[in-house]
Amino acid sequence: MTKSAPRRILVTSALPYINGVKHLGNLAGSMLPADVYSRFQRLRGHDVLYICATDEHGTPAELAAQAANVPVRQYVDEQHEIQKKAGEDFLLSYDHFGRSCSEENAALTQHFAHVLEANGLIEERTMRQVYSIDDERFLPDRYVEGTCPHCEFEKARGDQCDNCGRLLDPVDLINPYSAVSGSRNVEVRETRHLFLLQSQMQERIQAWIEASTDWPPLARSIALKWLDEGLRDRAITRDLSWGVPVTNPDGSIREGFETKVFYVWFDAPIEYIAATEEWAKAKGEPEAWRRWWRTDEGADKVDYVQFMGKDNVAFHTVGFPVTILGSQEPWKLVDRLKAFNWVTWYGGKFSTSNKRGVFMDQALDLLPADYWRWYLTANAPEGSDAAFTWEGFQSSINSDLANVLGNFVNRITKYCASKFDGKVPEGGEAGEAESWMVAELETRLPQLVQHYENMDFRKAAAETRAIWAAGNEYLTKAEPWVKYKNDVDAAAVGVRAGLNLAALFGIIAQPIIPEAAAMILDALGAPEDRRTLSEEAFADIPALLDALPRGHEISPPDVLFRKIEDDQVAEWTERFGGES
Ligand code: 2FM
Ligand code: ZN
Repeated sequence: MTKSAPRRILVTSALPYINGVKHLGNLAGSMLPADVYSRFQRLRGHDVLYICATDEHGTPAELAAQAANVPVRQYVDEQHEIQKKAGEDFLLSYDHFGRSCSEENAALTQHFAHVLEANGLIEERTMRQVYSIDDERFLPDRYVEGTCPHCEFEKARGDQCDNCGRLLDPVDLINPYSAVSGSRNVEVRETRHLFLLQSQMQERIQAWIEASTDWPPLARSIALKWLDEGLRDRAITRDLSWGVPVTNPDGSIREGFETKVFYVWFDAPIEYIAATEEWAKAKGEPEAWRRWWRTDEGADKVDYVQFMGKDNVAFHTVGFPVTILGSQEPWKLVDRLKAFNWVTWYGGKFSTSNKRGVFMDQALDLLPADYWRWYLTANAPEGSDAAFTWEGFQSSINSDLANVLGNFVNRITKYCASKFDGKVPEGGEAGEAESWMVAELETRLPQLVQHYENMDFRKAAAETRAIWAAGNEYLTKAEPWVKYKNDVDAAAVGVRAGLNLAALFGIIAQPIIPEAAAMILDALGAPEDRRTLSEEAFADIPALLDALPRGHEISPPDVLFRKIEDDQVAEWTERFGGES
């Protein structure tokens, strides 16, 4: 068959905020699926570039540094390393994990602001904002609290009242106070900011989203809802010191903006591009980023896929595209955008202070990354929110990984070691049971590929498991252990097919559980160049049952997965919360 040309696929996952290691819900709704997808596409033989970074600007970073009593620069340096390590420990295969406080991002953010202004899409406006005299800062909407003018709830937040649900303007709160310090010494002051005139881009954005018919439904429906409400102009600068400075095209600070910086949501998505520049520089090819982002330099051939939680969709379907399209420069726009609902903790929120939920670093103190990766992918919050429960986690690991996959691999490799000298047996002819297995694979493998292509992660995990389960059924039909007593050749067929299935199971497991998959493939001595999901690899399915060279030596792997015991569940429920 002719080999189809590799595609170039750019993958980004929403940039995690710098303040603190992320919880499993954050991981499941952006970085993990982006990694699984990137791994899948690399195994298909495509040229993938997976970029992520920490989102380091904004008030939360400044306040977290203040709370930790360290300068903000030191705080973000430390936190970046912590998050980078947590990602690596979770086997997230970024090509680059950058930082939005990079020089590259500052330069590019300023560049976009200059061209947008030159194109008439930015103007200065005066607005009224709450200023806290004791905190010596303007308060972002979420950091002003007070009495709701509609329902008199006394702890309404500046952006929204949690009691009556109304959207609020913080200057309308009665008896406002600073949520930073609790101080009531606040007043409304006028301040000038740059506004991005999104309303002028309504039609262009609408046309672009309406044409994007192959987006998964959640992202598309959220985007269309925002457009229905009409795009509003928004301030893209803030009164803050930590962020990208607001400059003139000659590099000097813009007059009146000496104590202001760009809004974190303006510079964060630009970091997708800047982090690619950081990646290119790090590998000593400073121009290499251009072919991923400049449509006049090859990026028109790139498929760009973004992953994010549902709260980020508006920023990626309206905010960032306004920047890109409004620049009138040849930048790459996202081609497909995959959004996720929330992973909840037993239906509620993750919360460090209330001991509810597990954070990435804590998770790996309990169990290896693969266990979490499997559960969070198999239960990805795609159609709706998905509740993490210890009981669900235990049953998924014990059944899918330990029983269905782990036992299969153990049983067949151990049997081969004891009866066939640890060598892939020769002899015998494939029969009915093998034909049954081939038929299963002929239906299921293409479906698996399709689920990944569609970015349906639950379905991809379910299909992976179904293939493992079919292997178990095959062994029940083939019964090599029974046949061995009277007909060693007949048993040889079953063991040979079984070993080859174990290798195939490892191969298809790689995107989700890369570590265990590598253990399986190493134990079976599967050659590196055969560990792919390429079209050619699946072209001749009957041959998959006889792919390992006959006579080739294998060794049973160490225990692949340990079952989660009830007493562990009890202990973890106590430590991290459970059904309340
Ligand atoms: O919601 C968040 O966690 C944001 N830090 C995501 C930013 S995504 C991007 F645009 F940078
Ligand atoms: Zn209210």
